[in-house]
Amino acid sequence: MPVLSMKNVSKSFFGVTVLDKVNFEVEKAEVHALLGENGAGKSTLMNILGGVYAKDSGTVEVNGVTLENTSVNESEKAGVAFVHQELNLFNDLLVFENLFLGKEILYKTRTLNKRAMIARTNALFEELGVNINPRAQVADLETSQKQLLEIAKALDAKAGLIILDEPTTSLNTSEVQHLFSIVRGLQKKGITFIFISHKMPEVFTIADRYTVLRNGCFIKTGKISDTTPRELTTLMVGREVSDKEIYSAREQGEVVLELQNCSGTGFRDISFKVRRGEIIGLTGLAGSGASDLMQAMFGVAPFSGGSMTVFGKKLVRLDIHKAMKVAKIGMIPTNRKENSVLPDMQLLENEYISEHTLSSWRLHIFKKREIAKYNHYKKILNIKDNSCHDIVTSLSGGNQQKIILARLLNTNADIFLLDNPTQGIDVGAKGEIYKLILRLSEQGKTILVNTLEIPEIEKVADQCVVFYHGRVHTILNRNKIDETTVMLHATGAVPPAIA
Ligand SMILES: Nc1ncnc2c1ncn2[C@@H]1O[C@H](COP(=O)(O)OP(=O)(O)OP(=O)(O)O)[C@@H](O)[C@H]1O
Ligand SMILES: [Mg+2]
Repeated sequence: MPVLSMKNVSKSFFGVTVLDKVNFEVEKAEVHALLGENGAGKSTLMNILGGVYAKDSGTVEVNGVTLENTSVNESEKAGVAFVHQELNLFNDLLVFENLFLGKEILYKTRTLNKRAMIARTNALFEELGVNINPRAQVADLETSQKQLLEIAKALDAKAGLIILDEPTTSLNTSEVQHLFSIVRGLQKKGITFIFISHKMPEVFTIADRYTVLRNGCFIKTGKISDTTPRELTTLMVGREVSDKEIYSAREQGEVVLELQNCSGTGFRDISFKVRRGEIIGLTGLAGSGASDLMQAMFGVAPFSGGSMTVFGKKLVRLDIHKAMKVAKIGMIPTNRKENSVLPDMQLLENEYISEHTLSSWRLHIFKKREIAKYNHYKKILNIKDNSCHDIVTSLSGGNQQKIILARLLNTNADIFLLDNPTQGIDVGAKGEIYKLILRLSEQGKTILVNTLEIPEIEKVADQCVVFYHGRVHTILNRNKIDETTVMLHATGAVPPAIA
């Protein structure tokens, strides 16, 4: 008997069908990859299983028990735990408070037994090999730590079926390996996993079987050992995706950005130069400083030392407005839910907001013009929406990310700081975004991409700056950029070298 059997499940939002008679079956103690393009319906199907959304029709059985009046409670009782794609933590609470929310350990006097909760948290983290202080405030955690905390929460619920909806978007290679070893251990104990990811190598490392959805329809299910990444991609997209080399060497202009001995929270003594039209990949293990550096370069956090020169002008007391207006810098921050998406606003408003930060003196917003521009970006980024007036959270994760990209393109910045820009973007669309990055550089834009995915850097970067413990460990030229070399430097396994 399968652990999970979803049959003929349909769901529509405001008359738009997003799941059309989907069948989905998962066997006990397997890792089942649920695959599909952005907007295919993966999260929606899991939200129905997790009791977040009610289905319109169809049946859901967990361990032979039919889930009727879908509610999160009913689902949890049936042994389902859900690690959401958009993290679901309370930033204002402490780590252990998040873990025990709604199931607090109490003294007989009905007061909170914090000591017991902290001890349990420590024990759980130790078992998982996670290094997080239970008393830390969640707001102060790195995104990768938040992701691990979410996973720990699901594991703590002693669920028999765990849904991991894109759990690795902020984890580095070694953290992913660590997560996978935890998953394998639990699998041996009979726990079943549904694993959603746009990263093919991960799918082929961890999953036993797969199911592909396309446009809300079931396409195929089978064993991972009987398929190839190419076949799965074709099934998801509905046509062959070319993996042709997209990089091309380009003429580069004058130095437009120079960092000299820059220091700040999380990074120290950073120096490098970037030329007009250049694409620089930044990487390092999570917390290695590249993300912090980008934030300081955009005026989010202060530099404590050193200098940053942009277009020949030394920038002092940088703030976001100055970065955008004077230095013509644009940024996509990491962690879209917390740093980018304005959840109660429309797609259109989410897209044009940066532009209007720049032109704050203008009293009117010309809706017609804005909609025309929105439609332009919708086309080049292939955004799947129903109307530009829908609120942004009604879009799938990957499509929300595309809105944030559109917001950046709309500012007409000259220097782009992209922190984990393809978070949650599907395989086909990723290729399009790499192409876009190259096209932008050909038009004279200068681009810094911070990513934990080294293949992304291999695809587009002219140079790769590898960070280690807050410092630049090595700068690699394009011909030296490959996964092994970059990892050796990122883990400090080889001595620093400027090649
Ligand atoms: N609350 C909602 N209101 C309206 N439409 C929604 C809502 N939730 C999801 N949808 C729509 O359902 C479709 C499927 O979205 P879903 O989030 O399931 O995609 P996904 O396969 O998880 O994609 P991704 O890989 O980008 O996360 C999308 O077109 C989305 O816009
Ligand atoms: Mg999703």
